[in-house]
Amino acid sequence: MSKKEAVETSESQIAVHWEEEQYFYPSPTFVGQANLTDESVYDRFSLDNFPECFHEYAELLDWDKYWNKTLDTSDAPCWKWFTGGRLNVSYNCVDRHLAKNANKTAIHFVPEPEGEKIDHITYQELYIRVNEIAALLRDFAGLKRGDRVTIHMPMSAELPITMLACARLGVIHSVVFGGFSANACADRIVDSQSRVLITMDAYYRNGHLLNHKVAADEAAEISAKQGQVVDKVLIWQRYPGKYSSKTPLVEGRDVIVNEKIKEFYGARVKPESMKAEEPLFLMYTSGTTGKPKGCQHSTGGYLAYAAGTSKYIQDIHPEDVYWCMADIGWITGHSYIVYGPLALCASSVIYEGVPTFPDAGRSWRIAQDLNVNIFHTAPTTIRALRKLGPDEPAKYSFKFKHMTTVGEPIEPEVWKWYHREVGKGVAIIVDTWWQTETGGFLCSTIPGIKPMKPGSAGPGVPGIHPIIYDDEGQVIERGSGRAGNICIQNPWPGQFQTIWGDRKRFVDTYFSRYCKNSESKDWRDWPYLAGDAAMEAEDGYYRILGRIDDVINVSGHRLGTKEIESAAMTVDEVAEAAVVPVAHDIKGKEPDLYIALKTGVQPSVELQEKISAAVCSQIGKIAKPRKVWLVPDMPKTRSGKIMRRVLGAISNNKDVGDVMTLANPDVVEVIKGMIKN
Ligand code: PRX
Repeated sequence: MSKKEAVETSESQIAVHWEEEQYFYPSPTFVGQANLTDESVYDRFSLDNFPECFHEYAELLDWDKYWNKTLDTSDAPCWKWFTGGRLNVSYNCVDRHLAKNANKTAIHFVPEPEGEKIDHITYQELYIRVNEIAALLRDFAGLKRGDRVTIHMPMSAELPITMLACARLGVIHSVVFGGFSANACADRIVDSQSRVLITMDAYYRNGHLLNHKVAADEAAEISAKQGQVVDKVLIWQRYPGKYSSKTPLVEGRDVIVNEKIKEFYGARVKPESMKAEEPLFLMYTSGTTGKPKGCQHSTGGYLAYAAGTSKYIQDIHPEDVYWCMADIGWITGHSYIVYGPLALCASSVIYEGVPTFPDAGRSWRIAQDLNVNIFHTAPTTIRALRKLGPDEPAKYSFKFKHMTTVGEPIEPEVWKWYHREVGKGVAIIVDTWWQTETGGFLCSTIPGIKPMKPGSAGPGVPGIHPIIYDDEGQVIERGSGRAGNICIQNPWPGQFQTIWGDRKRFVDTYFSRYCKNSESKDWRDWPYLAGDAAMEAEDGYYRILGRIDDVINVSGHRLGTKEIESAAMTVDEVAEAAVVPVAHDIKGKEPDLYIALKTGVQPSVELQEKISAAVCSQIGKIAKPRKVWLVPDMPKTRSGKIMRRVLGAISNNKDVGDVMTLANPDVVEVIKGMIKN
């Protein structure tokens, strides 16, 4: 095989069939108020001005001591930002706002039951509560700077309060998504060597008050078996003063925070003056192997990056009411519910429950009642809202100026519904591409400067310089529209520092593939491999095609699963689509297409044919699905991601593995039954 052929059939040569879309321009009203409208920002943040350009972000913070080196590369590729500098994150997100904004709402906590009162927590109250819990963590739980603590909590105001208390003490928090199982929580307790677990007794989801404390008992038991003893479990009460779990307390280990805190009323804790490069938190994420990776994020670089991108890409002003509907247990919630917005003194909304509970209008009622003007969510939620209540947004009088989409590629069809119905044709949309590892946005349009293009994230954000390589290590020509492996050429302050306790895995996973010289201390030799396939269009906008491993090779043609799904979404009746590869003797792989129809649409053979025909006409016969399965619902994680792995196992007659952690495990049997028949 010639070199050229090898490149053409390489991993990175993914057929890309989404058509180029028209631009949508921000309104003059939006531009008139935007934080960033001066195009020279791209020059200021050019590689020529790297790394000093990031002063601009660091200067958004209050430092106890200014840094003397912007970027220290001596331990490549474990970069250190703003070394010599000292600061405290809780001081920056809370104390410094008191002089002017003590009575401004920092957090609106919206309980899922609609009759329950919304909690409006001012910066003054946040300050008091963070100090009290910090005192409890220090004086009762014995936690100190550098210790790790695992927090397994649902969406609640107490979650950011606890995180900020840890930050005040220099304790490294590891927040585990509340919907994760006890097993997942235990893995993280063991890996981070936490001896304190912080939890909540119960929380609401879909109208049910779930027993959450039971997971703490199981997690402690599992981690003890693996040699990590949890000697204190601190339990917040969903209803202060009332224990809402059926699981009894364990004598000598379990403590109700709401009672214990009474001993610390009025306590004040001096914020620890942290070195910029000391870790702030760990956030575990899945890799290609089973063991989750503890991404270690820094104090100064991370906060500077979260604040800078919140200001310029989220366009947050202190007077905005900002609602990011992610869960704080994910990186999006850390950077863009808690740290970024609070560093900028915004009001951040935290919603406990399901966006469509008790009906498809719920999210829009919250937005209307709280005057939310910046809204942030994921394509999966947008699809769900569109499926259940396509006409609901029009019934409410909320008015967004700015909306975000994050987490997966968004089909242009869905993007346009979001823009037209939710944004009411006036809100701008930023499609932000980034990862747990990156701490903040990598690619997005700057909302007041660049037009939007459905289906494309946009150029690198200021100071982020992407580059696309093919599998042979050749740079793919800029703007060529050819797909490859997207990397970032330079470090940036929000980038994680290492994988907790596993530097080798950090280097191997993210740097070794395109590293030019493994001895080098020069950042230019260490492109960061994001693990996504992407292409850059002529206008410099990047389109993310999905993980490098989400690729289906049909007869040597590489198809992004997302593009087949997007083709299916062009059929009116389709609400959600998921493609998985099925082994085929001759073609190698074939796509199997799973479809959930919009509410009220009846499945039929005609519809199956219509969807199959749409895929063929949008992409070509090569992408014709083996089968179009019209299923009642997709198997989903509790955070709403479609579990393609489960569908893939069903399609390939393999064991689906443990599905009990799914939001809807029952649907798996139903789908299996359909496919057998
Ligand atoms: O494949 C990309 C996809 O989500 C991955 C990162 O997932 P996670 O670490 O869970 O973080 C999600 C929230 C930041 C990426 O490797 N992804 C994220 N944002 C986008 C996206 N794919 C396409 N478009 C996006 N805007």
